[in-house]
Amino acid sequence: MSQRKIKTFFIRTFGCQMNEHDSQRMRNLLVSHGLRPAESDREADLVIVNSCSVRAKPEHKALSEAGRYQRERQNQGMKVVLAGCVAQQSGKQILRKAPYIDGIMGTDAVVRLPQLLAQVQAGKGPVIDVREHDESNPCFVPPTPTYKPGISAQVTIMKGCNNFCSYCIVPYVRGREASKPCADILAEVEQLAHAGCREVFLLGQNVNSYHDPSGMNFAQLLQAIDQQAAVDRIRFISSHPKDLSPSLTDAMAKIDRVCEHIHLGLQSGSDRILRLMNRGYDAGQFLEKALALREQVPGVSITTDIIVGFPSETDRDFQDTLEVVSKIGFDQAFSFKYSPRPGTAAARMPDDVAEPCKAERLATLQDLLSKLGDDSLARLCGRSHTILVEKQAARSPEALSGRTRCNRVVNFEPQSGTQVGFLAQVAIAEVRGHTLWGKEEPEPLLRS
Ligand code: SAH
Ligand code: SF4
Ligand code: F3S
Repeated sequence: MSQRKIKTFFIRTFGCQMNEHDSQRMRNLLVSHGLRPAESDREADLVIVNSCSVRAKPEHKALSEAGRYQRERQNQGMKVVLAGCVAQQSGKQILRKAPYIDGIMGTDAVVRLPQLLAQVQAGKGPVIDVREHDESNPCFVPPTPTYKPGISAQVTIMKGCNNFCSYCIVPYVRGREASKPCADILAEVEQLAHAGCREVFLLGQNVNSYHDPSGMNFAQLLQAIDQQAAVDRIRFISSHPKDLSPSLTDAMAKIDRVCEHIHLGLQSGSDRILRLMNRGYDAGQFLEKALALREQVPGVSITTDIIVGFPSETDRDFQDTLEVVSKIGFDQAFSFKYSPRPGTAAARMPDDVAEPCKAERLATLQDLLSKLGDDSLARLCGRSHTILVEKQAARSPEALSGRTRCNRVVNFEPQSGTQVGFLAQVAIAEVRGHTLWGKEEPEPLLRS
């Protein structure tokens, strides 16, 4: 069969914000090279599966997703590229499990996607690029000039992770930490603001270890973006508790543009398990930092990640986790059953918490988290909040939708004249499902 010319593409994304952002960068690159997004996956000339390997489940899902297109690949010449963390980790080994792939593209290869595609198009598959970043292989791709961001846009400020938590695959698939120079970040924020963006979401596996080549730290970067005054709001994710410095808490308290939300992974409330996880803090230190945040940053939302069933976790250890969770009263949380990841330190420990026990602990934890989440939503009701309007509310054409500074979605009835991109003052009245509803206050618009 003659080669089908690649004109349209479809990207399926698994995993965290880093992967979402990489998919966005791939979309920009492909469009700037003249390709078009396809109406549906089956119609696309090229499908890219951007994979996640943080637990066994998303890894299996990504591989079975890539395998769904075997008929289109054989009969219509569709090309399938596996990108992201599974690709980075497995390289060409993955072809033994998944021989139906035309390209394997690692996490630092996004910048070279056009070259990889040219080779795939020429039938040179399977083409493999899993080279890690180094000085001769920069990993940060500036947005293309034609990129149209939304009201809120992500900006990668650092990549990689040096922490090697014992359970985690991320340091193996995203490589060592590297920070984007402050001047490049400021230029990117300026470009996004110019194109209509009002809020930047700074991304990194551990933003607190941001270290500009000139020595600037994360709190100083926040100050620099604030002084630039290009956007209304600054958010960031994720923060590692061990590196949460008083200067960051201070920046959150004092810089008006920096929103009151922090994602701080607790992982466990047991000191013994935290040591085995190589997290670098104990439960007391976590509590102290979280409570200082609550005190110094009024209205702060603290969200977290927690793992149950880590090797050797006892009922007592699990009770310790429940206790810390209750004391902090997390506003929202993601919780997971431990999943051994080949090559990590924890994978050498026996995975000895039985599956039914993991499931029971997860259900108990999720009940508690869900109650705390409901309380947190209820506390926002009956008050007035500033909302950055992002879009029309789904299924309610009269209403607009945006987020509070503490990152909660609010749908509301607007005053006439209020539009997407405005800051609106909204009296929050009630919770419907997990969404807050309110009414805009009859006050002058804050700004457009
Ligand atoms: N850098 C982020 C975490 C990225 S991974 C941070 O440190 O906050 C996202 C979450 O996946 C982790 O916080 C952890 O809770 C979970 N996770 C990572 N590896 C896991 C594993 N092997 N099993 C279960 N959950 C895991
Ligand atoms: Fe994984 Fe730990 Fe790095 Fe987060 S800080 S990405 S949990 S190794
Ligand atoms: Fe998954 Fe890779 Fe993110 S493993 S959680 S997509 S960094």
